[in-house]
Amino acid sequence: MFQRLKQRWKVNGLQLFLILCVFAITGTTTAYLTRQVTYWLDLTSSSAWFWVLKVVMLVFGYQVLILLFAIPFGQFSFFWNYEKKIWRRMGFGSRVRGFGLKNPKPYRIAVFASGAGSNAQKIIDHFRDHSAITVALIVCNKPGAGVLDIAVREKIPSIIIDKEKFFRGNGYVDELKQESIDFIVLAGFLWKIPVSLLRAWPHKMVNIHPALLPGYGGKGMYGAFVHKAVIEAQDKESGISIHFVDDIYDHGQVIFQARCAIAADDTPETLAQKIHQLEHLYYPRIIEKTILELRNRR
Ligand code: GRF
Repeated sequence: MFQRLKQRWKVNGLQLFLILCVFAITGTTTAYLTRQVTYWLDLTSSSAWFWVLKVVMLVFGYQVLILLFAIPFGQFSFFWNYEKKIWRRMGFGSRVRGFGLKNPKPYRIAVFASGAGSNAQKIIDHFRDHSAITVALIVCNKPGAGVLDIAVREKIPSIIIDKEKFFRGNGYVDELKQESIDFIVLAGFLWKIPVSLLRAWPHKMVNIHPALLPGYGGKGMYGAFVHKAVIEAQDKESGISIHFVDDIYDHGQVIFQARCAIAADDTPETLAQKIHQLEHLYYPRIIEKTILELRNRR
């Protein structure tokens, strides 16, 4: 059950524990306060006011208290999103997560990937029920790559791109425009991005790198090569970097980094697993945050 909740709310074990604490404390406090107020006002269950007060406390008091208790537990943004969802479901307006706009056109992401696509899958999961952002296209340069199976399973259109056309043609700008793509996410895409594409989506393209940039980046630094180099250098920690894409490999402005410790017996494979966990946890959220900030800046 806890595992299911972690997946559904996209949180780690500690965060789940803190969230459950907030629910428990809020429930107990709401019940206690309701009892105290009805007692203080001399209301009994035979009075209509007793029930009005109960409903008000449960519907409104509870929502306010949960946000207040969320603060000391460091879970305000989780509960704020949770509350917005509840209010939307109850039919109170159609304001969309963070955009502050009524029914905006969904922001369309293209995910570029050439491998197994575990990050692509997490991004798709994250935005599956999102009312403002949608994964609209998978772009892949490797026939047979796992990410293409994901696209089929998830019923997301995909294109397999051709090297010659990508680098010497239009960089697939027209095809992406045809799909009304607003934002590009690289998730294990190894080709350098041509300038035509960068110009068409300026500051609207992010990449994830499995190390702490500016270290261990650049041409040839991908997958196991990165982890091997980090371990050979006897570093004590590694991590992930999410950055805007520019015309140099792994070079654009870093938006976010997360770290993990390297144990003495870590191998490139075990380190890769730790890094993947960080990527899956943070990449979808940082993409969402970056897009929301972009939209709000307009
Ligand atoms: C990730 O480790 C990412 O950092 C790198 O490529 C890998 C892709 O893995 N850019 P997956 O295909 O998402 O599993």
